[in-house]
Amino acid sequence: MKEIIKKLNELKKEKNAIILAHIYQLPEIHDIADFVGDSLDLSKKAVQTNADVIVFCGVHFMAETASILNPNKKVLIPAIDAGCPMADMITAEKLKEFKSQYKNPVVVAYVNTSAAVKAESDICCTSSNAVNVVKSVADNKSDIIFIPDRNLGNYVQKTSGVKMNIWNGFCPTHNNLILPEYALNAKEEHPQAEVLVHPECRPEVISSADHIMSTGVMCRYVEKSTAKEFIIGTETGILYKLKKDNPDKNFYPVSSFAVCPNMKKITLAKVLDTLTNMKNIVSVPDDIRQKAYIPILKMLEINAQG
Ligand code: 13P
Ligand code: SF4
Repeated sequence: MKEIIKKLNELKKEKNAIILAHIYQLPEIHDIADFVGDSLDLSKKAVQTNADVIVFCGVHFMAETASILNPNKKVLIPAIDAGCPMADMITAEKLKEFKSQYKNPVVVAYVNTSAAVKAESDICCTSSNAVNVVKSVADNKSDIIFIPDRNLGNYVQKTSGVKMNIWNGFCPTHNNLILPEYALNAKEEHPQAEVLVHPECRPEVISSADHIMSTGVMCRYVEKSTAKEFIIGTETGILYKLKKDNPDKNFYPVSSFAVCPNMKKITLAKVLDTLTNMKNIVSVPDDIRQKAYIPILKMLEINAQG
């Protein structure tokens, strides 16, 4: 392990590379990353960096977003097969078909979508800025379409009061593995704990929480909070960062088997192999890139919540 880390540090200098990692990555990836964050913060970091090479430890749509924002940089993903099943629940063709059913469609696309789907959308959002993004496009004339996550969509609709036409997608990890009865059990076991839940969870899980937050906002909230115990309703990879940053606080997952198998495909050995051989370059065809860039840029102009 030490050998790999030493080699990676040398390669990073030699190639002017930066390692970005999503919060759901394995602990050893957190430890070698230059920045660990949620999908919005990772997009921002990808814009700000002066590095020539971005090694993106996350799932494919995240690396693709970094590549769309940085056409002149090389974006590498250590596991080329790390996809997002929720992103795969809508295609550009299906979206075109859905749009054709409305008179004035305005598409808000969660970043968990392919570049081709973003190219057919008007504005992107992440779980940390979705409410502000939807409010920014709401008017009386538009038919707002929200894709692909029904749970985030329903939460945003309820919070913003903006009526939307929501695609029926979901995250298998949050929707199927974090169940309402687990949240109730955790609350019974830890009655003093604050309950923080990701908006990709089911509505019944969301309604049992004290706060609904993206992963990055959760991390910042816990640091500031005076509470000592937290019940966490999201993918379990976040627990390593929470504990590392807050050793005096305790964290209990709603579900200890809420694991995203795609996020866990990236290992230290794969990161080393990718950077050594400059492989798994993520690139987007120029015509799609130019169209997909616009909704991402519009999103970055909207202030994130929290
Ligand atoms: P965040 O925006 O909180 O990083 O969530 C991304 C994601 O894929 C959650 O499953
Ligand atoms: Fe996709 Fe769910 Fe994994 Fe996030 S946790 S990357 S939404 S499958």
